[in-house]
Amino acid sequence: MVQGAVANTQYNYEIVKKFAIMSLVWGVFGMSGGVYIAAELAFPFLNFDIAQITFGRLRPVHTSLVIFGFGGNALFATSYYVVQRTCQTPLASNWMAGLTFWGWQAVLFLGVLSYMNGIVDSSKEYAEFPWYLDILIAIVWIAYFAVFLLTLLRRSQPHIYVANWFYLAFILATAILHIFRNLSVPVGLFHPDSYSVYAGVQDAMVQWWYGHNSVGFFLTAAFLGMMYYFVPKQAGRPIYSYRLSIIHFWALSFMYMWVGGHHLHWTALPDWASSLAAAFSIMLLMPSWGGMINGIMTLSGAWDKLRTDPIMLFMITALSFYGMSTFEGPMMSLKSVNALSHYTDWTIGHVHSGALGWVAMITFGSLYHMMPRLWETRLYSTKLVYVHFWLATIGIVLYISAMWVSGIGQGLMLRAFDQYGNLAYTFIETVSFMHLPLVVRMVGGMLFVSGLLLMCFNIYMTIRHAKHEQKAIEEAQLAAKLARAGV
Ligand code: HEM
Ligand code: HEM
Repeated sequence: MVQGAVANTQYNYEIVKKFAIMSLVWGVFGMSGGVYIAAELAFPFLNFDIAQITFGRLRPVHTSLVIFGFGGNALFATSYYVVQRTCQTPLASNWMAGLTFWGWQAVLFLGVLSYMNGIVDSSKEYAEFPWYLDILIAIVWIAYFAVFLLTLLRRSQPHIYVANWFYLAFILATAILHIFRNLSVPVGLFHPDSYSVYAGVQDAMVQWWYGHNSVGFFLTAAFLGMMYYFVPKQAGRPIYSYRLSIIHFWALSFMYMWVGGHHLHWTALPDWASSLAAAFSIMLLMPSWGGMINGIMTLSGAWDKLRTDPIMLFMITALSFYGMSTFEGPMMSLKSVNALSHYTDWTIGHVHSGALGWVAMITFGSLYHMMPRLWETRLYSTKLVYVHFWLATIGIVLYISAMWVSGIGQGLMLRAFDQYGNLAYTFIETVSFMHLPLVVRMVGGMLFVSGLLLMCFNIYMTIRHAKHEQKAIEEAQLAAKLARAGV
C-alpha cells in the first residue's frame, strides 16, 4: 500500500477529527435510542403517552442516527483520511469539506427534531427527512462528491487504490438514490409535507430500489472501502488479492442494483420482478463472500495478531458477520423463506447482524486505528479495547439470537392452523410469546452501548493525553530556545 510521502502536516486532518468525533457522539445517541425503543417494545408503558418519545417517532430517530449519524460521519471521516493518504495529496477544498461537515450535522439535528415532532415522510423508510432537508442533503452530497473527485484528480500517485473505488461508488450511488427516491412536490413552500411523484406499486418499487441500495452502497460498499484500507494497515500486510478486490467491486456494484424487489415478495409487484430480485440476491452471495475471504485472508501469515491485537479482533469479527449476514440475506430472499421471515423479527435480527456485526464492528476497529494517529499518539488503554470487544460481541450474539427465536417463532405461530383449518394462535398470543426474546434483545443492546461508552472514554483520554504531550513538547522546545538565547 502507498505510504504517505507527503508530510502529515499538509493533510487536512482537522476535518477528519471532527467527523470521527461526531460519529461517536451520534453513535451514542442513536444506539441509546435503539435500546430505548427496544425497551418500549418489551415494556410498552415506557411510551408514557408522550407523543415525542413513542416508538413510532423514535424509530426513525434511531435508524437515521445510527445509519447517517454514526455510520455517515465515520464514512466522511475515513474517506477523507484514506483519499488523502492513498493519493498523497491534501483535500482539494477545505471550505467545501467544512460545508459537508456543518451541513451534515445540521441535517441530523433538524431531522431528529422533525421526527420527534411528527414531521416525517413516512412512506420512505431510511429517507424520512422532509423535503427541505432533502434539498440540504443534496447540497452536502454534491459538495462531498466534488471534494472527493477533485482530490482523486490531483493525486500524486498514478494508481487509485481500491478503497477509493468503493468510496466513490458509495458517494455516486447515494446521490442517485437520494435524488430519485425523493422526487416529490411540496404541499406548499411553508408546509413540511410533499407528494411523491410515484404512485402505488411504482412508489413501493422505487422505495425498495432505494432501500436495498442504501444497504448495498451506504452500509456495505462504503464500509468495504474502510475495510480495504484499514485491515491491511492494521495487519501490516498487503491485501490478500488485489485482483479479487477489483472483481469484488464490479460484481457487487452491478448486482446490488437489481435486488430491491426481494422486499416486495407476495405483494402487488409482478411476480417476475420479485423472482428476478431473488435470482440476483442469490448471485450476490458470491462477490460478498469473495470480499469477506479477501479481507480475512489478508491476515494469512499474521494470524498471531488475533491473540495480541484487539483492533484486529474487531476487524476480523466484522468480516465474519459480513459473511454471515450476506449468507442469511440471499436465503431470506427466497420466496418460500421470505413468506416466513417477512413481517417478523427475523428481519430485524438479519438487519442487526449486518448493522452491529459488520458496520459497527468495522467502524470501531477503523476508528481505533485512525484516531490515535490523527492526534499523533497511542491509545490510552488496550485493555479497554478488549473489554469493549467482548461487550459488543456478547451484545450482538444476544441481540440476533433473541431475534431468531422471536421472529421464527412468531412466523411459525402466525401460519399454524388447527385441525378445523382455523388459525391456531391469536395475534396477542404471538405478542406474549415474544416478550422474553424482546427483553433479551434489550439487554444485548445495553451491553453493546456500554462497550461504545467505554470506547468514548478511551478515545477521550487518548486525546487528552495527546494534548498534554503536545503541551509538554512545546514547553520543552521553548525552554531549549530560551536556554540557547541565554535567558
Ligand atoms: C445498541 C444497539 C442497537 C439496538 C438496541 C437497536 C435496536 C433497534 C430496534 C428496537 C429497532 C426496531 C425494531 C422493530 O421495528 O421491531 C431497530 C431498527 C433498526 N435498526 Fe437498530 N439497534 C441498534 C443498533 C443499530 C445500528 C448500529 C444500526 C445501523 C448501523 C441499526 C440499524 C437499524 C435499522 C436499519 C433498523 C430498521 C430495521 C427494519 O426496518 O427492518 N441499529 N433497532
Ligand atoms: C447478499 C447480501 C444481502 C442480501 C441478498 C440481503 C437480503 C435481504 C432480504 C431478503 C431482506 C428481507 C426483506 C423483507 O422481507 O422485507 C433483507 C432485509 C434487510 N437487510 Fe439484508 N441482505 C443482504 C445483506 C445485508 C447487509 C450486509 C446488511 C447490513 C449491513 C443488510 C441490511 C438489511 C436491512 C436494513 C434490511 C431491512 C430493510 C427493511 O425492511 O427495513 N442486509 N435483506
